[in-house]
Amino acid sequence: MDVLETIRARKSIRAFTDEPVSREILAQVLKDASMAPSAINMQPWEVHMVLGEERKRLSRRLLRSYRERRITCGPGAARVIPEQFMQRSRRCAEGMAPLVQRMGSDMKTYINERGLDFYGAPAVALIFIDESFPPDRMTDVGLFAGYLVLAAAGHGLASCPIGLVVGYQDEIKDHLNIPESKVMVLSIALGKPDETAAINEFRSSRADLKEFVRWVD
Ligand SMILES: Cc1cc2nc3c(=O)[nH]c(=O)nc-3n(C[C@H](O)[C@H](O)[C@H](O)COP(=O)(O)O)c2cc1C
Repeated sequence: MDVLETIRARKSIRAFTDEPVSREILAQVLKDASMAPSAINMQPWEVHMVLGEERKRLSRRLLRSYRERRITCGPGAARVIPEQFMQRSRRCAEGMAPLVQRMGSDMKTYINERGLDFYGAPAVALIFIDESFPPDRMTDVGLFAGYLVLAAAGHGLASCPIGLVVGYQDEIKDHLNIPESKVMVLSIALGKPDETAAINEFRSSRADLKEFVRWVD
């Protein structure tokens, strides 16, 4: 697929089939994602790719923790986010809600409980950075994540970045024996889309250029 077609066709998928994905394909996706640029080529990302039964075991642990701690998704800002951004987020949730309802669920349950189950994906990339890096190196990891979702699409895989699980990183590090000194940035669920799931009909909108671009010439 052409790179622009891939960019335009990609979207987040929130219901996967349990069809396994081969390690060979995942390795190729990771190799292609690692072509992302990074400051002085430090490539500061570290990935734990969790598959199959291990992925399910991890989710069971996260769901147990969710029932105790109820950490949920949110903008997670220290200050008030300007209305224009909040509006986009609300529009997104409003678009998803009726589809989730058609699946017999509600947004809170679906986004949290299915999210912690990585929406049923057979594989999840857990992306970390070493704590020694300054916060601006998150830019590199963000670029890597962007490349990863596009590389996945290029290899015929659907994906969903899931930031929710970052709130559970203590449990994840404990469960997977990941050193304390590693900081989790994002998880990305990978697999084949469940074409029968209503939620996968959802496509998010994008702001007009005039909302976020100022031309200076
Ligand atoms: C850093 C980050 C965290 C995200 N966290 C979640 C999440 O926890 N749950 C979820 O369902 N989607 C999550 N998403 C997916 C976004 O909701 C999605 O990218 C956005 O609505 C745009 O839709 P699209 O990816 O289909 O184009 C996340 C995306 C990013 C980049």
